[in-house]
Amino acid sequence: MLLYKTVVGINKQLNKIITIPFPELEMGANCITKAGELMASKGAQKVLIVTDAMIHSLGLTTALCDSLTAQGIEFVIYDEVKPNPTIANIAVGADVYKEQQCNAIIAIGGGSPIDCAKAIGAKIVRDKPVRRLAGKLKVRKKLPPFMAIPTTAGTGSEATVAAVVSDPSAREKFAIVDPAILPDLALIDPTLMVGLPKPITAATGMDALTHAIESFIGTYHTPLTDKYSTQATEKIFKYLTTAFEDGNDLEAREQMAIASYEAGCAFTRAYVGYVHAFAHQLGGMYNIPHGLANAILLPEVLKLLKPYCEKRLQLLAEVIGLDTAEAFIQAVGDLNKKLAIPTSFPELNAGEIPLITQRALAEAHGTYPVPGYLTQQQGEALLRRFLKG
Ligand SMILES: [Fe+2]
Repeated sequence: MLLYKTVVGINKQLNKIITIPFPELEMGANCITKAGELMASKGAQKVLIVTDAMIHSLGLTTALCDSLTAQGIEFVIYDEVKPNPTIANIAVGADVYKEQQCNAIIAIGGGSPIDCAKAIGAKIVRDKPVRRLAGKLKVRKKLPPFMAIPTTAGTGSEATVAAVVSDPSAREKFAIVDPAILPDLALIDPTLMVGLPKPITAATGMDALTHAIESFIGTYHTPLTDKYSTQATEKIFKYLTTAFEDGNDLEAREQMAIASYEAGCAFTRAYVGYVHAFAHQLGGMYNIPHGLANAILLPEVLKLLKPYCEKRLQLLAEVIGLDTAEAFIQAVGDLNKKLAIPTSFPELNAGEIPLITQRALAEAHGTYPVPGYLTQQQGEALLRRFLKG
């Protein structure tokens, strides 16, 4: 543990030196109509639009395309991004960008298209296999003009310096972390979120809550990240069930979109923790959606971590009008219930629990500023609670 603590301590000092910028923010109902003007101001002439087939078929790209056309900006749509974007998605996207001689990128969608676009941008400026961009500060070169337009309120990817990529051949996920991949512009339009299905509203909202909590209880938190974490936590407890029950409630959608952005601002500076470490491994091995994996894991991981961060959890409890760490953890579990989040992973293979745990602990230790350290045995016991039946 001493080694992990030393590495985390060194990273903490490095974090103080590396300045993480904020994207230029455009926010509000129907602000998508300003996308063309904003991209023109960045010199965009031909844009690669990175999205997925569902977003495209739902017509969520239409207003964007109209706005670009109105400014005389050409575009080509790459809509083959899969949930948990793969190395292949990124390679194809980068090829399309080059073949079509684009000079700017817009990502529109959930975390997958935004992360995919970040990695495409990285591959364009650093022409090497995506795997070799894994880790911290491997890009270090300005990306082409880049706008992110989230259509879910959860990942906060529009505000972060990380892109998570899947390597299906290794059944693993890895991250590219570099301030260079932060979008220049984040355009947050809640009208794009009104049609989001309930399970996605629930899972992505709980992803945002996980960002807010993990960044708050970890040891890299600062007054700035605390402000974002607590604001996001308060909004999520206030508005997520409304957004879930009535997807057309524009106020709830907007507040959740802001919460997602705020939680993104917090965790890109103060990192995440064990919930994400296990969720990434479960996503890599079984393709379990990221937000759903986080939501299922979150209350159980908090119970395990409570001895190490009881004060911090109590502060979060106060943010939502409660008074103890236990009450806060209970409230997280209750929120899951209201959102019909399941309590197990049917895909989980008992025989793979030791490997998943090993990989999750390897991801967390020395990388994430976790409040306390879990052992392999504790990690395996945690996962066994999620076996079906
Ligand atoms: Fe996340």
